[in-house]
Amino acid sequence: MIDEATKQRILDAAKIEEVVGDFVTLRRRGVNLIGLCPFHNEKTPSFTVSPAKNICKCFGCGKGGTPVNFIMQHEHLSYPDALRYLAKKYNIEIVEKELTAEEMQARTKRESMMALNEFAGRYFVDQLWKTEEGQSVGLAYFRERGFSDAILQKFQLGYSLNQYHALADEAIKSGFSSTILSDVGLATRSDKGGMVDRFRGRVMFPVHSLSGRIVAFGGRVLVQTDKSAKYVNSPESEIYHKSNELYGIYFAKESIVQRDAVYLVEGYTDVLSMHEAGIQNVVASSGTSLTQGQIRMIHRFTSNITVLYDGDAAGIKASIRGIDLLLEEGMNVKVVLLPDGDDPDSFAKKHNANEFIDYIKRNQVDFIQFKSGLLLADAGNDPIKKSQLINDIVQSIAVIPDAITRSLYIQDCATRFSVRESLLGEAVQKLRQEKMVQKPAQPALPTQHATPSAIVPIEPEITKQSGSDLPYTYNQEQVIMRYLVNYGKQTLSFFDAESNDMMHFSLADYIDLMLAEDDMPLQFPLHRQLLDEAMHTDQTDLRNYFLNHTNLSIQNYVFSLIEDKYEHCRTFKEEDAEKLSSQLSQEMPQVMLEFKLRTVKGRLKEVSEAIKQAQVNQDNDQLASLIQQQVHYVHVQQQIVDSLRESKIQRF
Ligand code: CTP
Ligand code: MN
Repeated sequence: MIDEATKQRILDAAKIEEVVGDFVTLRRRGVNLIGLCPFHNEKTPSFTVSPAKNICKCFGCGKGGTPVNFIMQHEHLSYPDALRYLAKKYNIEIVEKELTAEEMQARTKRESMMALNEFAGRYFVDQLWKTEEGQSVGLAYFRERGFSDAILQKFQLGYSLNQYHALADEAIKSGFSSTILSDVGLATRSDKGGMVDRFRGRVMFPVHSLSGRIVAFGGRVLVQTDKSAKYVNSPESEIYHKSNELYGIYFAKESIVQRDAVYLVEGYTDVLSMHEAGIQNVVASSGTSLTQGQIRMIHRFTSNITVLYDGDAAGIKASIRGIDLLLEEGMNVKVVLLPDGDDPDSFAKKHNANEFIDYIKRNQVDFIQFKSGLLLADAGNDPIKKSQLINDIVQSIAVIPDAITRSLYIQDCATRFSVRESLLGEAVQKLRQEKMVQKPAQPALPTQHATPSAIVPIEPEITKQSGSDLPYTYNQEQVIMRYLVNYGKQTLSFFDAESNDMMHFSLADYIDLMLAEDDMPLQFPLHRQLLDEAMHTDQTDLRNYFLNHTNLSIQNYVFSLIEDKYEHCRTFKEEDAEKLSSQLSQEMPQVMLEFKLRTVKGRLKEVSEAIKQAQVNQDNDQLASLIQQQVHYVHVQQQIVDSLRESKIQRF
């Protein structure tokens, strides 16, 4: 448990730009910072961070929130664990009592899985350095491959003893259940009922997530035989989706940002050797083709990627496979083929960082050069083969999202193959159109603009009404809610003609009063709840109150209300309290009138529909009463319109 005072210290310390900055490269734009959203796939940045409000928000997918919200969403942590994460980041000490067996159980499964991996990671490291077998087998192997102690420690490389249940025994002794052991795939239950370790007698490579937590392990055999796989890896699990992780990203991200470039290699050992050689902006796809998720992760830090693969046929093939997907995601792609027979690992061993980087600089080519270089040798002067080659390149150009980049490549390709540029341009255009026809709908990102409900990423339990079921006053209510959340505890003052005196209300009370006056309650239940809580809490900073609400849906909803883009209500200079209060006093009557006007219009529509129905049914009593209502509402409508005009004239 984290006590209240510590929680407050953590909340105070956590700066949104620093917290988000660990995962997203941010650039300043005005008072805010922007970057590529870590929650959805995008090529132009719409993830906005407001240091002043200490919140972040994606205008594409709607995600974001306070520093704690961000960490909860991004790292899939519970609220207390997000606080622990931030405490660690800001060196705030949390004194926690030992977990009881019950509390241990109560921890969610994901957290236990993470905790177990963390435990196993430490265990494997201990075995490597502290056991006779670890030293003579594991450590000796690493040293023979030229890895320094510093690199071994940094990447938390370890060793699994050549025994059947060394890890499982140790983990169970430390309070982890055998279920969790098999959930993360560190051990499986044998036919006889005991637990058997997955990794035995292997050197261990922990796979760290972007935030540095161990989500999986790879274990390499020491002596390659035909029987055993070279690598055994953790299975997919709730905490490990292979296609979304990149080996080395945690240790590379800073350097990727600094150099605004990343190297992509194939394997664990390539990453390690390049670090050993002093090159840190490197990640490995771990032997499979890059996925969109992995590219997205990289793209948050840089747009420049250099693919470094073996110069053998398999390496070349692997390079080509990934290129179009990278281009499609808007990356600038370079390819370097290493001398035949070398992979980055062996090449790094033979050269120091300067030589390595120099080699890359001299040999890296863009994808057109790369493809044409490879295929031209094949095609020679055969016109048919040559046109196939050009088509191949045109296909790659066509997937590039940026028009200017496309046209530059078209130019380059035209010159290179002496083909008319316009011809290539047309071909590219045609391909793009075909593709648009093929997949008309973009992957179903939640659109922010379509319906009012889409603006509001809240959980369904709160919004029983959704989509077309939203009350017709929804937009007006939202405007009221923005005032409420931002300024609910400000004092409004009005002149009361009856008593010939000034009257003062809090903005929240004023809203309530105005609604009661004409018997026009807010129609959206969540809005009623917000108003109710705003009136009854003692806290003066309602923004803060709602953003740290125990109900996550309320947090999110209020967050979506106050971020800039949808801020219909004007923002005032908050320092000048008197001026603020007088401006609000002028503005609120109109806001409330607009809500009332919408309500009346809605009721009129309902009534006129009911009248039609009554006419059909020839229900004359009903008809008379409805027409009476209609007259009443028309009258009220006129009053509101008049008042609105008046208040607008006054404000003008
Ligand atoms: N890989 C795997 N399972 C295998 C073989 C390979 O998961 N049976 C993945 C590993 O992530 C490995 C990468 O593919 O790092 C590249 O494979 P390879 O080049 O064979 O391995 P290296 O890590 O380079 O190992 P080494 O240099 O020791 O041969
Ligand atoms: Mn390799």
